[in-house]
Amino acid sequence: MKIDLRKGDCREVLKTIPDNTVDLTFTSPPYCIGKAYDTHSTIEGFREINEPVIREVFNKTKPGGSVCWQVGHFVRKGEIVPLDFVVFDIVKSLVPDAKLRNRIIWEFGHGANCRNRLSGRHETILWFTKGDNYYFDLDSIRVPQKYPGKKYYKGRKKGQYSCNPLGKNPGDVWQMPNVKAGHVEKTGHPCQFPVGLPQRLIRALCPPEGVVLDPFMGAGSAGAAAVLERRSFIGVELESEYFDIAQWRLKQALDGDLKHRDPDIPIFDPRKAGAVAKPPQYSDGGKPGESEGDKI
Ligand SMILES: C[S@@+](CC[C@H](N)C(=O)[O-])C[C@H]1O[C@@H](n2cnc3c(N)ncnc32)[C@H](O)[C@@H]1O
Repeated sequence: MKIDLRKGDCREVLKTIPDNTVDLTFTSPPYCIGKAYDTHSTIEGFREINEPVIREVFNKTKPGGSVCWQVGHFVRKGEIVPLDFVVFDIVKSLVPDAKLRNRIIWEFGHGANCRNRLSGRHETILWFTKGDNYYFDLDSIRVPQKYPGKKYYKGRKKGQYSCNPLGKNPGDVWQMPNVKAGHVEKTGHPCQFPVGLPQRLIRALCPPEGVVLDPFMGAGSAGAAAVLERRSFIGVELESEYFDIAQWRLKQALDGDLKHRDPDIPIFDPRKAGAVAKPPQYSDGGKPGESEGDKI
């Protein structure tokens, strides 16, 4: 297992990586929505940053390898622009042999509360393969069935398993808490994804001994996941502050000291804990949507 962390602009650093050598890229680019590290603030800017990186990442990917782009949405004059629509468009226009295999919904329980639309509680991961003959180890990410050990009770297959005894396909909607204050993985980076997100895809899409790349590494969450899964990792980050955090976290992962949340622990469900939503009380003349929680 080799760990190769580079501080710099990924548009330059990627040029130094040999073509056809990476098994899986898992990354989350800047969304251009006003974060401390954002250099652009428009959809056009998002395209400008992502286009050259996507082109280079596919050049670096082995035939049969995978590229996963994790994004949320952009808000333009009150209108939502799903960034995965933009990414899909870029990939399909630049890379003829890129095939979209899944659009995974990452659902999390918390975030800013909206007044004028439903509060955003999901982001997406677009999983592309380079070509049609691709690596996919489904058995490594199966999850427990509702009725494990279920068998046919009549007919030609009577007595045989009617489900896969190794577990079921996890599906394309994943529930995992986002990394806010109080999350065990939280660092000084403003926008981490949970380690469990890349971890599951690394298991399924990167062969043992394979190479994982994250060109927008941030606090190194994809790298930490690669180390947990014993894969090699190449990470690139522009900002020194985040690069240092990533270096520290990868050392923790290598030493077996990384704090991380097991992705298979279910998300907290207040309804199961007995909580009920109370009807609003407007005796003070307040209007619906003016509750304390409705921040934006
Ligand atoms: C959404 S964050 C990634 C967070 C990361 N997934 C994590 O869990 O910590 C995007 C990162 O890309 C970095 N970045 C922006 N432009 C870059 C560039 N041209 N080259 C390398 N890194 C860049 C930003 O500094 C930021 O840390």
